[in-house]
Amino acid sequence: MLPLCQSGISPVFVVKKSSEIQTRGKEMRRAKISVIGAGNVGATTAHWCAAAELGDVVLLDIPATEGMPAGKALDLFQASPIMGFDSKITGTTDWSDTAASDVIVVTAGIARKPGMSRDDLLSTNAKIVGDVAEQIKNTSPDAIVIVVSNPLDAMVQRTFQVLGFPPSRVLGQAGILDTARYRAFLAMELGVSVEDITAILLGGHGDTMVPIPSCTSVGGIPVTQLIASDRLDSIVERTRKGGAEIVGLLKTGSAYYAPAAASAQMVEAVVRDKKRLVPCAAYCDSEYSVGGYFVGVPVILGGSGVEKIIELSLLPDEKAALNKSIDAVRELVAAMGRPTA
Ligand code: LAC
Repeated sequence: MLPLCQSGISPVFVVKKSSEIQTRGKEMRRAKISVIGAGNVGATTAHWCAAAELGDVVLLDIPATEGMPAGKALDLFQASPIMGFDSKITGTTDWSDTAASDVIVVTAGIARKPGMSRDDLLSTNAKIVGDVAEQIKNTSPDAIVIVVSNPLDAMVQRTFQVLGFPPSRVLGQAGILDTARYRAFLAMELGVSVEDITAILLGGHGDTMVPIPSCTSVGGIPVTQLIASDRLDSIVERTRKGGAEIVGLLKTGSAYYAPAAASAQMVEAVVRDKKRLVPCAAYCDSEYSVGGYFVGVPVILGGSGVEKIIELSLLPDEKAALNKSIDAVRELVAAMGRPTA
């Protein structure tokens, strides 16, 4: 067996001055992850995070649901001896239980019903998400906040407006989900493993999302060499409507396994400081000439949140499609209006 360090002594037991021990103790504490909204997306995010031992998880919902988040948390914790994961899971309706969270995932809001667009949810969810952001500001002022509620691009903007946090600590989950759908459809089409598809999608989480075929490859081979362009176009179209396809099949509620998995991957990137290069809704000002909105772009996601926005050089039609998507985000944010005090 290899020694843990050159001297054979575990670094954990090295005697240090008390201040250093305190620092070390702080570094060693488990991450605290709060998930706001204990519906399907929230509870499944808690599940993936706990199962991957990303930290201790707090699952919160509104007082009217008293007992429900605690029930789901206890049920999930009781799965842990069977599945072999070791995470503390708390269900609550009390914001003080989320205090000093490192990462907060906001899934609060009503879900789409068949025939509803994401934008139909705008005013109801803007109010809910604004109230959630007020609570976060008071209880976890140092958190990194990942917004999942729809319509995503507007909800992350509202969260940012209310929180007043630096833009690096506020971001939206959509790109990983949209890209996962695209990768899944490409794998189905080509009969290859999903693991071999890498891709990126830009823009808003909606019907204007922008695929970048030059950044899509299958085992390193450009996708354009493997799929005819009309087939690729129809896969892109199916991806754009990927959320609605699930809503239509489920009939009540919207997708949750993949949205939750995407959220958990973002949490992992933060709590493990992984520096993942993934598409997220990030605050772009001069980047891509967005001018102060959250738009899906490739970012480096690590322990400080959005550590870098990657600016791709785009082909003219890709740039035009991205501009159209940015316009749709601007319109959505304008329709939402400013937060009322
Ligand atoms: C979807 C919802 C979560 O795309 O926006 O399924």
